[in-house]
Amino acid sequence: MKFNTDYNSKNVNEEITLNGWVAKIRNLGGVIFIDLRDRSGIIQLVIRPNSPSYEVASRLKSEYVIKAQGKVVLREKTNKNIQTGEIEIEVTDLVILNTSLEIPFEISDNTTALEDTRLKYRYLDLRRSTLSNNLIMRHKITLATRNFLDKEGFIEVETPVLCKSTPEGARDYLVPSRVNKGKFYALPQSPQIFKQLLMVGGVMRYFQIAKCFRDEDLRADRQPEFTQIDLEMSFVTEDDVMHLAEKLIAHIFKTVKGIDIELPLAKMPYNEAMNKYGSDKPDLRFGMEIQDISDIFNKTNIGFFQSNLDNGGIINAIVAKNCASKYSRKDIDKLTDYVKTYQAKGLSYLKMEDELTGSIAKLLSETEKETLIKRLEITNNDIIFIVSDKYSIVKTSLGSLRNKLAKDLNLIPKDTCKLLWVTDFPAFEWSEEEGRFMAMHHPFTSPKDEDVDKLLTDKANCYSKAYDLVINGYEAGGGSIRIHDEAVQEKMFKALELTEEDIRNKFGFFVDALKYGTPPHGGLAFGLDRLTMLLTGTDNIRDVIAFPKTASASDLMSECPNIVDEDQLKELGIKLDK
Ligand code: AMO
Repeated sequence: MKFNTDYNSKNVNEEITLNGWVAKIRNLGGVIFIDLRDRSGIIQLVIRPNSPSYEVASRLKSEYVIKAQGKVVLREKTNKNIQTGEIEIEVTDLVILNTSLEIPFEISDNTTALEDTRLKYRYLDLRRSTLSNNLIMRHKITLATRNFLDKEGFIEVETPVLCKSTPEGARDYLVPSRVNKGKFYALPQSPQIFKQLLMVGGVMRYFQIAKCFRDEDLRADRQPEFTQIDLEMSFVTEDDVMHLAEKLIAHIFKTVKGIDIELPLAKMPYNEAMNKYGSDKPDLRFGMEIQDISDIFNKTNIGFFQSNLDNGGIINAIVAKNCASKYSRKDIDKLTDYVKTYQAKGLSYLKMEDELTGSIAKLLSETEKETLIKRLEITNNDIIFIVSDKYSIVKTSLGSLRNKLAKDLNLIPKDTCKLLWVTDFPAFEWSEEEGRFMAMHHPFTSPKDEDVDKLLTDKANCYSKAYDLVINGYEAGGGSIRIHDEAVQEKMFKALELTEEDIRNKFGFFVDALKYGTPPHGGLAFGLDRLTMLLTGTDNIRDVIAFPKTASASDLMSECPNIVDEDQLKELGIKLDK
C-alpha cells in the first residue's frame, strides 16, 4: 500500500490509485481541484470538465471518502507548502466510497476549535496532521525502543493489569471483584513489584511498554492513564542502569529525530539541583541560577531578613540580566502573588538603575549594596528577585519563578535539548500532612550502602541509589537499584512506620519472594508520553495520546466515567451512597 506522500516527480506519467478524504475543493474556471488527504499528507487531484469523473467530482463535499485513479503529472507551479507540491493527479476515474455529515470544526493544523470540541470528536481531530504525526512519532519511539532493548538482551514481558495495589505515591484506581464480593483489584500505578518478581524469576533483563494508572491531580504533563517504557535488570549497579538507559535515549533521539546526544550524560546530585535550580528537574537550557546571599545579611537592618535568619531560614536571589525596565510595579505584584502560591511570604526586588532601587533598597547598608553588586555581578538594568524564608520554600518558589521568568523573557533557546541525570536522592521526605517520613521514591528503593545503618535513627540524612533522567526541565524517567536483601527491606518498611500487619497484608508475598535467592537488581521507567511530548515539541500531554482524558479525568467522546446499571452494581455487591 502506498500513501500520498510516497509519490513525487519520479512517478510522472504513472497511472495510480489513491484513497483518502476530501480536505478542500476549489472550482477554478470549471476545473475542479481537490486536496486529497490521507495519513501521510495532501496530494492534489485535478478533474477537468471533459473528464468522465466530472459529474462525481461536482458532488463532492468536505470529508467525503473517495477513491481516485489517474495519471501523475508535473504541476505548472510547485506548491512548496506540501510534500507532493511538484505533482498533481489528472483524474480519470473517481468513486465516492462514503459521504460525511458537515464537520463541527475545520480539520486544519491552525484550527481555532476549542480543545473540548476536538476531544468530543477526537476521531476527526486525529485527521489533523499534527496529531497523526504525533502518533507516528510515538510509534517510532516504541519501535526504536523494542529494537534497541532486544539487541541488548531484554525480553518484553506483560504483567497483570488487575493486581494488588503498588505503592507509588498516588491513589489507586480500584476494580470491584464480582466473584469475590467486597474485594477489589487495583490497577497498577506501575509494574514495579512484578518487574522485581521477574528478576526473582530469573528473567534477568525485562522490559515492557506498560500502561500505568494513577488517580492524582492532573497537570499539563500528567494523565490518569499513561504509558511507561519500563525496564529492569539483574546484577547491576546504578551506573550500569544509567549507562544502558542513556544509550536507549540516545538511540531513540537519533532514530526518530536524527539528533546526536553526547554521552555520557552529566550527573547532578539532588542537593545541588535543589540549591542551584530549586527543582529536582532543573531546566539547564538557561542560566539564572539561584544564589545564596544569606551571609551578606548576617547583621542587617532589614527586620524580616534578620528574624528569618535567626529562625534558621535562608535568603536567596535570582538575577534577570538587563530586564529591570521590563518590570513595572504591577508586574512585580503579579510575580509576588506567583511566589506566594509556593508559600513564600513575599518577594523582594532590587533594580540597578544607575543605583540600586526597589522594595528593600532604602534599607540596605552600603556594605550590603556593594557586596550584593559584586557577588551577583550586577550591571545596569539588572533586576534581582529575593526570597527570604525557610529552605524548602525559598528553593521551590525561586525555582518556579526562574522557570516562569525564562518563559516570559524568552530566555529558552529553541531546538536545544539539555539532558542530565539527577542522582543521590534523599531516601525519605518529610510529609507535613502525615507527620512522618515517607519514601521519596518507593519502599523498594535501595538506600546507599553507607546509610543502611541510619535507616531507623537518622532518616533525614539517608540517601538512596535512585536516579531521574531530566530533559529540558521534565522528569522523563526515573528508577533505582532495589533492595534485594530481605533484612534491609524489613528495616525499610519499619523506617516507613509500617506495622507488621501492614507489611504482611500489603507485601507479604513480596517479602517472601526476597527469601528465595533474589539477585541484586535495579531498573527504571521512562514516561513514553513525556518523551513523545519532548520529541514532538508539544507541552500538552493530550496531543500525544490518541484518546486522552481531560483535566477532570473524563473522556468527552465516550462520556466516561459514567453511571452504570443498578443490576451491574448489585452483581458486584455495591450500593451507592446517595
Ligand atoms: P515514576 O513514578 O517516577 O517511577 O514514573 C516513571 C516516569 O513515568 C512518567 N509519569 C507520568 N507520565 C504521565 N502521567 C503521569 N501521571 C505520570 N506519572 C509518572 C514520568 C516518570 O519519570 N516504578 C517506578 C520506576 C522504577 O523505579 O523503575 C516508577 O513508576 O516520566
